[in-house]
Amino acid sequence: MSPKTTPSPMPAHELAPQSDAVASEAPATVPAKKLHIKTFGCQMNVYDSERMAEAMGTEGYVLTDDAADADMVLLNTCHIREKAAEKVYSDLGRLRVLKEAKPSLTIGVAGCVAQAEGAEIRRRMPSVDLVVGSQNYHRLPAMVRAVARGERPVDTEFPVEDKFEHLPERPMAARPAAFLTVQEGCDKFCAFCVVPYTRGAEVSRPAGRILSEARKLVERGVREVTLLGQNVNGYHGADPSGTAHWSLAQLVRALAEIDGLARIRYTTSHPNDMTEDLIAAHGEEPKLMPYLHLPVQSGSDRILKLMNRKHTAESYLHLIERIRAARPDIMLSGDFIVGFPGETDEDFEATLNLVRQVNYGSAYTFKYSARPGTPAADRPLIADHIVEARLQALKDLTNAQQDAGLASMVGRELSVLIEKRGRNEGQWVGKSDYLHAVHVRETDDRPLGAGVLARVRVTQAQANSLTAELV
Ligand code: SAH
Ligand code: SF4
Ligand code: F3S
Repeated sequence: MSPKTTPSPMPAHELAPQSDAVASEAPATVPAKKLHIKTFGCQMNVYDSERMAEAMGTEGYVLTDDAADADMVLLNTCHIREKAAEKVYSDLGRLRVLKEAKPSLTIGVAGCVAQAEGAEIRRRMPSVDLVVGSQNYHRLPAMVRAVARGERPVDTEFPVEDKFEHLPERPMAARPAAFLTVQEGCDKFCAFCVVPYTRGAEVSRPAGRILSEARKLVERGVREVTLLGQNVNGYHGADPSGTAHWSLAQLVRALAEIDGLARIRYTTSHPNDMTEDLIAAHGEEPKLMPYLHLPVQSGSDRILKLMNRKHTAESYLHLIERIRAARPDIMLSGDFIVGFPGETDEDFEATLNLVRQVNYGSAYTFKYSARPGTPAADRPLIADHIVEARLQALKDLTNAQQDAGLASMVGRELSVLIEKRGRNEGQWVGKSDYLHAVHVRETDDRPLGAGVLARVRVTQAQANSLTAELV
């Protein structure tokens, strides 16, 4: 089973129209144009899609969840594994057919495939009108105007200006839990990974801007923020005075002072950047939720070295011990790559061993995918049947740990931030402190609603979620 509750690469996700605010930006006399955004990849793309929707809102575009009804379709893409990138091309094939029936349709490609492949996308798919790299979204409105003039712009330069500074402020109608990008890019250069190339060097946003964005989100009803970064715990943004730099722990502590903000999370972290002050914050700051996604990738030191991870299995396990000493109930999740070039049975056994020692609440397991341009790309691959068997063995183990973790919640009292209505009448769905999806039924005297923080008792554990009753 694959957990629904966690961060990291998630399945393709379509940005649902959710904003009256965007609609109200449209000039009253001109009928609004419709924009459909399909988002692939990680939460950072989800956040970017919202920001692009907001930017296009100021151009008179409103969101639609129906590509066939749209004047413009934007694919916000992911390049992390080959399958993710190929999905984009099958979508573009379908959009080409749509465009044959409706030639005015504008097709745009954004995100990490755009960044990695640039103009090559249009060579493969001539129906694409614009290609915008992941750091250039503030230029999207101008690019769409250029398309209207008959141009077909491609912009994948890493700009000197900060895109967030040139994007409109957050007008989106809020949900109770929001993403907030605080850091982008990565300088770690793991041997398998495209992120340093598609997102560029590590850059942290200034703390003052993050605080003011968080305050605006809270004014619009947000109660939980998840701070995003490819290497979020490496955050080192300018402090509000502009004279020093803040660590992620300092940023978290400052955010915790915002009234009305109830919960803070962050993702994704690198083990080597789990600093003492951040570990301490987990023990001291009640608004910092007891959940940590801390990818390890492998439990074999030989493979970790080949991956250029710069930590060992032992240093990771020691780190977990220190984190658990600060916050004993913390829920841990991780990412694992199976079948990295050179991985032997013994190496894989070491991964299983590490998983047994950590006991993860959830885990993401990936088959290694060779990515062009990365250091590992040319190394000989391991036979697929071997990789498949290892992947299955690892999944069996992590699923069993997840099931046991969910089962251990039955009977416990938790707090749940209610996010939306469930499928059944009177049922709502929210997230626990530990990021479990929790189903709760409202009662006549205690109606629920999005944004309510409810105390519940867990009555049942399902494969990926919990059922609970109000206490
Ligand atoms: N910055 C984060 C996330 C990077 S991408 C981090 O460092 O953890 C998310 C996950 O995708 C990675 O943790 C890794 O497990 C997986 N991944 C990255 N490149 C991959 C590749 N080439 N093949 C298979 N999985 C990959
Ligand atoms: Fe990729 Fe490694 Fe950077 Fe994570 S830390 S984004 S896996 S290079
Ligand atoms: Fe994918 Fe880019 Fe995120 S490659 S995982 S969308 S940073």
